Amino acid sequence: MFQFSHENPFQIELPCLIVGLLDKPLKFEGVLGELDEAFQGQLTELVKTGDLSAKYKSVQLIHTFGFVPAKRILFVGLGKEKELTIQKLKMAFGKAAKYIKNTPVQKAAIALDTFITDKWDTVQAAAALGEAVPLSTYEFRDYKQKTNLPEPRIEEMTVYSSHTIGEIEQAAKAGYILGKATNSARTLVNMPSNLLTPSYLATYASQLAEKYGLEVEILGKSEIEKLGMGAFLAVNQGSKEEPKMITLKFQGKEKWEDVIGLIGKGITYDSGGYSFKTKNGLVGMKTDMAGAAAVLGAMEAIAEWKPKQNVVAVIPATDNVVSASAFRPDDVITSMNGKTIEVLNTDAEGRLVLADAVTYAKHHGAEYLVDVATLTGGVIVALGTDKTGAVTNDEWLFEQILEASFEAGEYIWRLPYTEEDKKRVRNSRIADLNNSPGREGHAIMGAAFIGEFVEGAPWVHLDIAGTADTDKDYDLGPAGATGVMTRTLALFVDRFDKE
Ligand code: BES
Ligand code: ZN
Ligand code: ZN
Repeated sequence: MFQFSHENPFQIELPCLIVGLLDKPLKFEGVLGELDEAFQGQLTELVKTGDLSAKYKSVQLIHTFGFVPAKRILFVGLGKEKELTIQKLKMAFGKAAKYIKNTPVQKAAIALDTFITDKWDTVQAAAALGEAVPLSTYEFRDYKQKTNLPEPRIEEMTVYSSHTIGEIEQAAKAGYILGKATNSARTLVNMPSNLLTPSYLATYASQLAEKYGLEVEILGKSEIEKLGMGAFLAVNQGSKEEPKMITLKFQGKEKWEDVIGLIGKGITYDSGGYSFKTKNGLVGMKTDMAGAAAVLGAMEAIAEWKPKQNVVAVIPATDNVVSASAFRPDDVITSMNGKTIEVLNTDAEGRLVLADAVTYAKHHGAEYLVDVATLTGGVIVALGTDKTGAVTNDEWLFEQILEASFEAGEYIWRLPYTEEDKKRVRNSRIADLNNSPGREGHAIMGAAFIGEFVEGAPWVHLDIAGTADTDKDYDLGPAGATGVMTRTLALFVDRFDKE
């Protein structure tokens, strides 16, 4: 996708050159001064007449009519330097990439040095660009019966910069991997559950493992039974689809130690079971495996980057449907670690499958646990659809996740987790735990239930029920699955630093 060059882009024949404009206020000086000179001062004129501005996220295409060798210049407004952040820069790159994608120009070039401020250098800008281009131009290949028009896409982008090429190339590539991995997660989430079954997810994971040489293990029903994963099995009980416990391992250290466990809720469809969802509540429940998708996306980036870390990814995959054999409210089930659970609500199924997945991740040596799940409607009520809810038992681990989320530009907000919360999930007359202590604080209750299975390990729970998909297009992606937490998890693993 990306190529790199040291040449002066204002002196080369290019189909379209992307140039950043900062409102300092906007003045054509330095490299831009050269450009304005080539235009005999016409750019300054355009600014004076209000035809060209540095307004944040504006994209303005001009034809150059031979003033410079480039045929077109796409000016991207970056707004006031003080107000610009690296996340906002990604969005501006996204705007530009989308613009280019939808024009006949499929080969773009960018003058990267025009996107630098005091807050970041060319290397960071290259990483932001690498990430923003695949994210913003992502399209889900849908199932419409349409004419065979080729999909518009950016074929290549040449990055012009005076900075050392090796460094910016590496940064842009790393960013690109992050964007692509997020897109892989988005595609899994966008697929409907008649096509994306637990078996499909298992095959996908196996292919990922084969491509990158990861260790993979897929457990089918009989193996899951042998291991006594009664909570996971209960959710699957009404289904014709075989459950799959998917495990992937990436070993970046000599010894299998300091293992990070990433656990993703893989409910391929959530009908609610006997505690049925409403007819409106059912729509969109194909996205109930977005946690699994984020974990698989993160594993893809990790496999590409090869950090010196050890990671085990565990995904319990099943649908939650009804039949004569489905589990019921009032049932008492036994989880893999021996705790018994009174089922009060079959729609609180995520915590059940995650309970056994957490136990299994520990079984594979995971010492630090992060689970990602579309767990509760409660988190949407609490935080809206742009913030992922977090619950933790460990300040230090949470800090690491939070830092990664800042870098990714994915908001996380922490919810409290008290002794009182723990008591509520332990409140059952006939079992150790109950899976649904009522509506009050129920995003916290979902987390607290999972917390009963971590057995003292540092743990962060991420509830993405609100953030996993969106009904509006945005600068870094279209409506539909967002691939949220893929980037946070991947960056978290890459930067993970045990004191
Ligand atoms: N998958 C849902 C949570 C969800 C809701 C995800 C809306 C995305 C959008 C989860 O399994 C669920 O049904 N949770 C219940 C828990 C309740 C029964 C304790 C909920 O949030 O209502
Ligand atoms: Zn549910
Ligand atoms: Zn669910």
